[in-house]
This record gives sequence, C-alpha cells and structure tokens, in this order.
Amino acid sequence: MDTDAQKRAAAARAIEFVRPGMRLGLGTGSTAKYFVELLGERVRNGLTVIGVPTSEATRRDAERVGVPLSTLAETPELDLTVDGADEIAPDLSLIKGGGGALLREKIVAAASARMIVIADESKWVPMLGGFPLPVEVEPFGLESTRRAVEAAYVDIGSPAVPMLRRTKDGHAFVTDGGHWILDGRLHRIADPKALAARLSAIPGVIEHGLFIGLATAAILAGNAGVRVIERS
Ligand code: A5P
Repeated sequence: MDTDAQKRAAAARAIEFVRPGMRLGLGTGSTAKYFVELLGERVRNGLTVIGVPTSEATRRDAERVGVPLSTLAETPELDLTVDGADEIAPDLSLIKGGGGALLREKIVAAASARMIVIADESKWVPMLGGFPLPVEVEPFGLESTRRAVEAAYVDIGSPAVPMLRRTKDGHAFVTDGGHWILDGRLHRIADPKALAARLSAIPGVIEHGLFIGLATAAILAGNAGVRVIERS
C-alpha cells in the first residue's frame, strides 16, 4: 500500500465507528479528506449524520460530497470527531496543525465525546517533536511573542527557533481565524504537558498544536494492515 492507500484505509476503518444520528467533528488534511469523502458516500446511501467542519477547506469538501453541516453554535456537543495528525505518540498525544487548522481542530475535538485520529503508520513516533510544532499567534506583537515562545523552548530543554510560516509567494500564512503560525522544530518534546502549559501562558499565543488527552483512539494503516489503538 502506498501512503495514500494507507490514509484511505485508516479513514475507511473510522467510518465503521459512525452510527446513524451522530453529530460528527470533521477534521482537516489529506487523511481527514478521505474520511469526508467516504462519509459522503454513506450519506448518499441514506446515513443520517450531521457534521461540524474544522476548517473552511473541510466545509467546502463536505458540501461538495453532500454531508449535512452544522456549526458549534447550533450543535455545541458532538459525539465523535475524526481527524488526522502530524505525529502520534504512544499515549495518543498528538502534534497537529501542519495544515494550519489547529485552533478549530482543537475546539471541535474538545467539544466531542470521542476523538479518533486516523493516519498512515509514518505518523506514529516514540516521542513527539520531530515534526515542527505549530503555534498559532496573533499578528500584533509578533516578534515579542516569537521571542517568548523561543524562551519557552529553551526552558524545557529543547531549544528551537520559531519561524513564521509563509505561503509559496512569501506572504505570512493566514489561518481561518486570521492569525499567523510559528513553526518550531524541537526534535524532542520530553514533557508535552509542561510545554503546553508554558505556551498557553504566553500573551499572543492563540493556540498550540499539542493535543493532549483529546484523542481516545488512533487508527493506523501500514503495510501490515490497519490497527486500532485505544487510549488506556
Ligand atoms: C491540519 O491542520 C492538521 O492538523 C492535519 O490534521 C494534519 O496536518 C494531518 O494532515 P494529513 O492527513 O494531510 O497528513
């Protein structure tokens, strides 16, 4: 199986957890997109669910395939969110935000009774930190916030330079919420909870890409097949 086939296989397994009438959080990224497409097929075959998208891109995808949509204002409590991840550690803590949707993804996951993370096996790591950690920040005061984030990385023993994410044409990447993103390659995050607390305390930080205690299960697809890992 190539990586795309693995992503699709993980998404297909996640569809089996969907029950009629469920209120679903719909994740963002290439793996979550497969889930939305497969969900659309089920809806066209008569499944009744309602989805809350975690990004404008996912909203467009869900509309295109016919998944009925709601908002957290109308549907503030969800049954299940299915989303991808950039890294998954054995305790199911995650790095997310490679696609820039971390803020809405975290709000939607936190509003859900369960979160299933779907991925190809390459996302499974012994320790978070290899993937650059995204931190969503308010554009006002960017350099002050950037320095405070950098100091937090030094304090936890994983020095890294937070870099402003840019688009291909060199402009700052703007999130759906109108914020910017600082990416930092920490290499290893020995204590994600401590780092999460440090980052959340910095004025100007809107949200960070550490998802701790949110995923209840992971579905990983690799050459050996698909495995489901429940959080213990
Ligand atoms: C979006 O902001 C991210 O959190 C994605 O869920 C994550 O980057 C995984 O994306 P892929 O499924 O495309 O690898």
